[in-house]
Amino acid sequence: MTREEVQAADLKHVWHPFTQADEWEASPPLIVESAKGAVLRDIDGREYLDGVASLWVGVHGHRHPHVDAAVRAQLDRVAHSTLLGITNRPAVELAAALCDRTGYDRVFYSDCGSAAVEIAIKLAFQWQQQRGQTQRTRVAGLRHAYHGDTLGAVSVGGIDLFHAVYRPLLFDAMHLPCPADREDEQALAAQAVAMIHEAGDTLAVLAVEPFVQGAAGMRMHTAAYLEPVMAAAHEVGALVIADEVAVGLGRLERFLATETTRTRPDLVCLGKGLSNGYLPLAATLATERLYDGFREGYGRTFFHGHTFTGNPLACAAGLACLELFESEGTLAHARKLSAHLARLLTEPLPHALSVRRQGLMVAIDLEPVLGPRTGHRVCMAARRRGILLRPLGNTLVLMPPLCMTKEQLTTLLAALTSTLRTV
Ligand SMILES: Cc1ncc(COP(=O)(O)O)c(C=O)c1O
Repeated sequence: MTREEVQAADLKHVWHPFTQADEWEASPPLIVESAKGAVLRDIDGREYLDGVASLWVGVHGHRHPHVDAAVRAQLDRVAHSTLLGITNRPAVELAAALCDRTGYDRVFYSDCGSAAVEIAIKLAFQWQQQRGQTQRTRVAGLRHAYHGDTLGAVSVGGIDLFHAVYRPLLFDAMHLPCPADREDEQALAAQAVAMIHEAGDTLAVLAVEPFVQGAAGMRMHTAAYLEPVMAAAHEVGALVIADEVAVGLGRLERFLATETTRTRPDLVCLGKGLSNGYLPLAATLATERLYDGFREGYGRTFFHGHTFTGNPLACAAGLACLELFESEGTLAHARKLSAHLARLLTEPLPHALSVRRQGLMVAIDLEPVLGPRTGHRVCMAARRRGILLRPLGNTLVLMPPLCMTKEQLTTLLAALTSTLRTV
């Protein structure tokens, strides 16, 4: 297909996620043709620095030779085989490596972050039921959390803009207050803890999007809020799920975001960067204590699975990515890059009302200088200067892949500054 044919066929046949139809049709699409490291190239040969890590996914970069080779080698063996009732080498090796790295004991695979969260909720609920705690029917989440777009994940999450229309379809979860930057963390933690205590032994599980509530506009909190809330869930006998689909795998400079918290979540959801975006891959990590609750009797089976659960090709990519954390010192580089980012952000950005950052996750709240769609319009202008960003309303999200070089990050910030100066 020529460029024009691709564009015409896209407009005719493709339904884009989170994309307003008229707005999409109003301007020519960026058609990605190839990529390398932190740079994407479009069908006309123009290059773009990937400032959102291809939607918070990129860790080691596009076309990494080690991951390429692992996927190619696996292609010569088997691309797909089920994990229902049989097993395969890459799924086993990745599970063992993930448990070794994180201290968890069991890995339940799926193919997207939403599914990883659904699985965690269902596992936790069923575990409680099977140990005789049948009164524990309530699920708690944090206000403003985003756990994905499937109905269970939406029920526990709390973003009205995306999900209010589906309310009649959702189950009734408890939504606990969760602070953003300037709010009183201790006061909101105390309110959340009181709600958890009130729910008491009716609460089955609490799900948190720890430290950075990404899709809500990068609302950030600290352990001063998170710690007492997670601890309160354990005090009343509920399980804790950490949804680390966005914050895990190095984006906060550590492998798991919750590895620094005193309260250890019972379940951790990973997705996005797990395969560096090569293939759809997500995982729900669990402790042996949970796994043991599913023994003894066919009726206690976890009757959940997806066609692509444990797909060998995806797991081979995941394993290669995990190896890179060791061989390339990914976390050490992420820390250096994060420090560099902090230095760059000390320079004031035109039209920025506030800038916040944890690790390699940055939010820039803009004055609405171009009206309610300022964020979108700034991103379109930035694109013309060779940088890719995505807005959440009038908040610009900057989330470079962990592999980005300091020089590339400096270039990106300079291009963003000149874009903002001219709007
Ligand atoms: C914290 C969090 N949880 C879950 C999801 C859903 O992941 P997916 O889009 O792979 O279903 C996302 C996606 O952005 C996320 O940020």
